[in-house]
Amino acid sequence: MPDTTMFTDPTEEGKPIELEVFEVDSKLPDYEQRREKIPEPDPHYVDLGMLYRLAAIEQVRRSGVVDTPLHVALRGHMGTGKDHDLEQFAALLRLPYYRIPLTGEVRDITLIGSVKLHGDGKGGTESRWEDGDITRALRGPALLNMSELNAAGAETLFALHGLLDRYQAIDLPTGETVRLRSDTRVFGTLNPTDLRDYAGTQTLNKAFADRWVIWEKVFPNTDQIEAMLSHRYDNLKTPFITTIARLAVEVNESFTSSDARTRVGTPMSLRTVLDRIPAGLWMYAEAEDPLRRAWDEFVLSHIDPFDQDHYETVWSAVARTGPEGPPYG
Ligand SMILES: Nc1ncnc2c1ncn2[C@@H]1O[C@H](COP(=O)(O)OP(=O)(O)OP(=O)(O)O)[C@@H](O)[C@H]1O
Ligand SMILES: [Mg+2]
Repeated sequence: MPDTTMFTDPTEEGKPIELEVFEVDSKLPDYEQRREKIPEPDPHYVDLGMLYRLAAIEQVRRSGVVDTPLHVALRGHMGTGKDHDLEQFAALLRLPYYRIPLTGEVRDITLIGSVKLHGDGKGGTESRWEDGDITRALRGPALLNMSELNAAGAETLFALHGLLDRYQAIDLPTGETVRLRSDTRVFGTLNPTDLRDYAGTQTLNKAFADRWVIWEKVFPNTDQIEAMLSHRYDNLKTPFITTIARLAVEVNESFTSSDARTRVGTPMSLRTVLDRIPAGLWMYAEAEDPLRRAWDEFVLSHIDPFDQDHYETVWSAVARTGPEGPPYG
């Protein structure tokens, strides 16, 4: 019996989904490397519904109802957990995980490959094909996460068109055709450009966008942030958890608001909420107002000067003074 993983719907609406995990064939030439790239499950990860959705679309793919593969791109603001979701999905399905950033700098030869000169051992040189990042990942079972899709240059995108549509392959200049294997999945992440600028990003090229199923990843709500915080820091006291969650939700609501005069320009990412503020609370555990100190030094120091007032407005509305310390019990 092959191993399986069970995915349950956190909203309890859908039925649990059981999926067979993938297997990396030990006869593959890069078996050891590939096995090393299977991520470990994160014990602090809380499924806000994305894993279940990913499992649901995986089930559709396996059922064979559609013959053109469905590639999912997660679109959401910075630090909403897009990459983490994909990494955890790979961990549960035991797929080697390749995260390939498509920044504006990256050229298609880095992704696809190029001819390189090597010493031939007799004082001369010979030229040999060397796989690029994407080609290498496609040689075996893999979950490819092409991150920052909308930062990629047009030339890079065109090189990927064939891989992503019905053709399902990349033609190398060597004449070889590298096909999308049945145990390889392609995903992507991107930031939305409609609301705010992310340096180096642009609106996704229409023909490229049409090759993806695009899912929005929204900011987590209060309950979800509380769940993530208490799961990760089981001795962090409740008043701190609830106040941090409210601050984050208010800042992010203000970020998405339509009123340009009062809205904040930088959202509060999960990195701020789950990593930096808790570290600040630990550092200032003995301070008179630990949360305020953490806010000053781990939140305000991260935002643009013009945003300070907006963040202050949220702080005053939510907290005025932080809960009584020490934060950890
Ligand atoms: N569901 C979750 N449960 C627990 N922690 C999470 C969850 N999702 C994300 N995190 C944490 O939040 C942080 C940000 O996640 P991640 O890097 O995936 O964001 P992102 O959306 O890819 O951001 P960016 O757009 O800036 O690249 C990470 O430290 C991650 O561990
Ligand atoms: Mg990311």
